[in-house]
Amino acid sequence: MIYSNETENLRIAVQKTGRLSEKSLTLIEETGIRLTQEGKLKLVSVGQNFPVEILFLRDNDIPQYVADNVADIGIVGENEVMEKDKPVDIIDRLGFARCRLSLAIPQSLEYKGLSFFNGKKIATTYPKILQKFLNENKIEAEIHEISGSVEIAPSIGLADAIFDIVSSGSTLISNRLKEVEVVCYSEAVVIGNSKMPESRKRILQQLLFRIHAVLNAKNNKYILLNAPNESLENITAVLPGMKSPTIMPLAEKGWSSLHSVVNENEFWDIIKKLKEYGAQGILVIPIEKMIV
Ligand code: PRP
Repeated sequence: MIYSNETENLRIAVQKTGRLSEKSLTLIEETGIRLTQEGKLKLVSVGQNFPVEILFLRDNDIPQYVADNVADIGIVGENEVMEKDKPVDIIDRLGFARCRLSLAIPQSLEYKGLSFFNGKKIATTYPKILQKFLNENKIEAEIHEISGSVEIAPSIGLADAIFDIVSSGSTLISNRLKEVEVVCYSEAVVIGNSKMPESRKRILQQLLFRIHAVLNAKNNKYILLNAPNESLENITAVLPGMKSPTIMPLAEKGWSSLHSVVNENEFWDIIKKLKEYGAQGILVIPIEKMIV
């Protein structure tokens, strides 16, 4: 069934092409929502089994569209939310498309501190964030706003420095630039408009519930292992799981099998401790959905 009644659909703005677009769509699909496929030039997709409509937009337009109620929510980089400074709320943080917004200068120049930027020309697509940072630090620099290829500005004599997104840092290196100041951090976020009708807020709550289940699953792994019974107390202490681990006796006397859930961030530390406590046959399995 296609949810065609417009008033019942939650309208979600996502980036049409760029650093967030694929992961945003993948996340929506991982929540179990099947979308109509309209080909490469698609501007709108409709949920076939969940009341959503996906609007494919330029990322720097998304805060405005959400503020104007054209979209109910948007999945967008926090950098765009900060730069556009529209009346929208950050509803959730999604943990992907992590990056920082940094000042960078040619590698050949010496950098002794922020005063370097006094009297300098800085190229950026984020003039508002940069101006705020310069004001806070009492630096008088000229901001040169450009819409893309910021990194080449110093080499063609357009600016002395740049202010831009840094993720892996490889774009800076390939343009012989060095990052000298991190101004702020960014990740993909869900933004919304508080004027959203109640019926859509209810759909949003269901969607966020599903998104959390997907993100929790991504951040955790299911772990199974065999352990000598005398180590069970120690192993249970390092494997708290969702409540506590499942422990089942093995056919071999004096041994048990443990099942639990471990967080991705602590994973290798935990494995090291489990080995020290004599764990064997450790199996690690991805989780598809996790509802806590
Ligand atoms: C951003 C930014 C840099 C690049 C940095 O561009 O403008 O060009 O990412 O990433 P890195 O540190 O991993 O090299 P993006 O790919 O978002 O496209 P854009 O040029 O449209 O901003």
